Amino acid sequence: MKEALVSTIKSLNPTNLSDVVVETKLATADDIAAAARRAKAAQKAWAKMPAPARGRVIANAGRLFENNKEALSTLVTREMGKVYREALGDVQEVIDTCDFFLGEGRRMYGQTVPSEMPNKNLFTFRMPVGTALIITAGNFPAAVPSWYIIPALLTGNSVVWKPSEFTPAVAEAMTAIFHAAGVPKDVLITVVAEGKETFEGMVKGLNEGTINKVGFTGSTEVGRLIGAKVGEYIQSACLELGGKNPMVIMPDADLDLALDGALFAGFGTAGQRCTSLGTLWIHDSIYDKFLKMYADKVASAKVGDPMQDVLFGPMIGEKYAETHEHNLKMIQSHHTVHGSTGVGRITKENPREGFVGDPEAGVFVHPTIVAGIKKDDELYYTETFGPLVTVGRFSTLEEAIDLGNDHGFGLSAAIYTSDPKAVWTFREGISAGMISINNSTSGAEAHLPFGGNGNSGNGSRQSGIWVLDQFTRWQSLNWDWSGKLQKAQMDNEEVPHNPDFKI
Ligand code: UN1
Repeated sequence: MKEALVSTIKSLNPTNLSDVVVETKLATADDIAAAARRAKAAQKAWAKMPAPARGRVIANAGRLFENNKEALSTLVTREMGKVYREALGDVQEVIDTCDFFLGEGRRMYGQTVPSEMPNKNLFTFRMPVGTALIITAGNFPAAVPSWYIIPALLTGNSVVWKPSEFTPAVAEAMTAIFHAAGVPKDVLITVVAEGKETFEGMVKGLNEGTINKVGFTGSTEVGRLIGAKVGEYIQSACLELGGKNPMVIMPDADLDLALDGALFAGFGTAGQRCTSLGTLWIHDSIYDKFLKMYADKVASAKVGDPMQDVLFGPMIGEKYAETHEHNLKMIQSHHTVHGSTGVGRITKENPREGFVGDPEAGVFVHPTIVAGIKKDDELYYTETFGPLVTVGRFSTLEEAIDLGNDHGFGLSAAIYTSDPKAVWTFREGISAGMISINNSTSGAEAHLPFGGNGNSGNGSRQSGIWVLDQFTRWQSLNWDWSGKLQKAQMDNEEVPHNPDFKI
């Protein structure tokens, strides 16, 4: 007899790989399809609940996240490896999102619109889409899923959530909080699965009509596959994809301020934010000076145990370190490398000065600055998603804008300058969905539209009021109480007027 194969996955603490955070059963494509059927069956009753009551559930969740903030943040650091202060920020972003959407339960405004006809009224209503499949990455295991889950639930959808295989314990804790807050078990179902099974499960759900919306945060490559597939079902996915986020340093910039911004943007979260700094573009006149300032600052920064006061901790897992090492192979002979005592994995043989903790217990890599980047280089076009920042030079703002756009990504972009003309020229010319002036490329606030253009996304936006358009459809209503058939565009009264009038 053939035994049913149940595979499991172990999530490991990237700071200390001998610490198994949790062992989780992996869902198959059939499990995902079954979860979507259950979620679909539960959606109607959830949508019938008055929106303000759903808002109260989100309020409960917000309070629970607040009460569990330290515990959940500790778990984020343990399972994913970002420094504890950043983990607190990750969870705070969930609380902020609850704060924003609990009130939306009492708004979710539709419009009252005048009709062409007398005795006729027009209205618009937001309708939930149905059941959403939400697929998220490991780098923001709390905040980014909440950007989908909270507005989807608030607007009356049910959710099947597929978190990253690297962060199942955080996902389990978050799901338990939502359920404790009053979200019915089948209205939010979490399944941990590998990419291939997830995709097949998604296709089954699309075929069965039990998946009506897909939200995906991850690579451009996978986003392209998902976007194309759901397009076949006349759906559009909410896609939050990669970036190669430029930061432009103008000659009149406050260089100390820019240095802090470039340090955090490049190496915060070990460079594993979709908003992390891609290429630092420095004006010719300050290139040598600022490159040296940056190289010295990065070289002297503390790296290591993320529960200590360090710039960054480990990478999320081995897979991420392998990608980083692959990216290092793109360094060419016209580049110069800065920022550490070595490149690649930090080991006893390849040490990092001042490392905090035991580098060989976890997945730690050297911070790397690759200077001398040019448009034709592979690194110019590659989202490195690790502690690797490329640096290049420019002579005019127009050139910097072109360099910031031409790789085809358009997520986040920053400029450091004290010239308002440069600010507005940059804003108008740069293709990114999110722009920072004298601030880091990363660290967007939770209630502005979050999303990108080109290879970074299909124009969908998360967060704030803008995400409502992802999880609702507009329904229009006309109510004619004139007692007769009034035909639009045909039975309208023309107001008499004199077209030849001149003074
Ligand atoms: C992500 O990396 O997918 O703007 C999200 C930021 C964070 C969110 C990043 N608030 O950097």
